Amino acid sequence: MPIEHSDNNINLRFVNLSKFYTEAGREIKVIDNLNVEFNQGEVVALIGKSGSGKTTLLNLISGIDHPDSGEIWLGNTLLNDLSEEELTLIRRNRVGIVFQFFNLIPTLSVIENVSLPRELNGSQGINSRASAEELLTRVGLGDRLNSYPDVLSGGEQQRVAIARALINDPDIILADEPTGNLDEDTAKEILELILEVTREAEKTLIMATHSNEVINYADKVYTIHNGNLIPE
Ligand SMILES: Nc1ncnc2c1ncn2[C@@H]1O[C@H](COP(=O)(O)OP(=O)(O)OP(=O)(O)O)[C@@H](O)[C@H]1O
Ligand SMILES: [Mg+2]
Repeated sequence: MPIEHSDNNINLRFVNLSKFYTEAGREIKVIDNLNVEFNQGEVVALIGKSGSGKTTLLNLISGIDHPDSGEIWLGNTLLNDLSEEELTLIRRNRVGIVFQFFNLIPTLSVIENVSLPRELNGSQGINSRASAEELLTRVGLGDRLNSYPDVLSGGEQQRVAIARALINDPDIILADEPTGNLDEDTAKEILELILEVTREAEKTLIMATHSNEVINYADKVYTIHNGNLIPE
């Protein structure tokens, strides 16, 4: 059973968190004894140069990667204690992820891509499709429900991915360079959409980005440098 923690407004907490990789016998400290807390509903931008550890940190939060030491708390749940199976459930239910390269399933239609995480949770097809349709309408794709990802533009694919990230009503949205593969105008549109929908749904958003623009929209901006998060 996960250990309980008492602080309710804190949505995500790192305690003495460290992650290193060993390469050619040399230890690279990507995350070095990090202690940070994020509140429910906060919009957080993670910036930092390539290789600074943005993706590593997001993968630790989603349980795709595991810390070498320290703790990660998602609400009252200590991720360190969970099995791979439990982490899969956390990823499906409590964390919504938006990737740079969209990661849609090419053999599924738009509405099927968005309903899938809900159906994996045992929701009836008719209910999950209704929620997926509502979300797809919200992101401006109500008329593309039965299209397949390969006929959509990059911006449209990212809209589908945003709807998919929200379908199980997660506590937290993680976005790793969500606009990195889009032209400038589309990137701005998608950035605004992510911010709008996450604020509207009062989700915590942790977004890794190279875009300076996001700094104007975020509640908190951190630069990752030498394994630490430095507030702007
Ligand atoms: N599986 C791994 N094995 C060894 N080193 C790794 C591994 N994954 C990441 N690293 C190293 O950890 C560091 C941080 O990588 P990470 O991908 O988190 O950076 P990033 O900030 O996301 O960079 P980018 O902006 O290019 O996406 C890099 O030095 C990288 O080489
Ligand atoms: Mg990265």
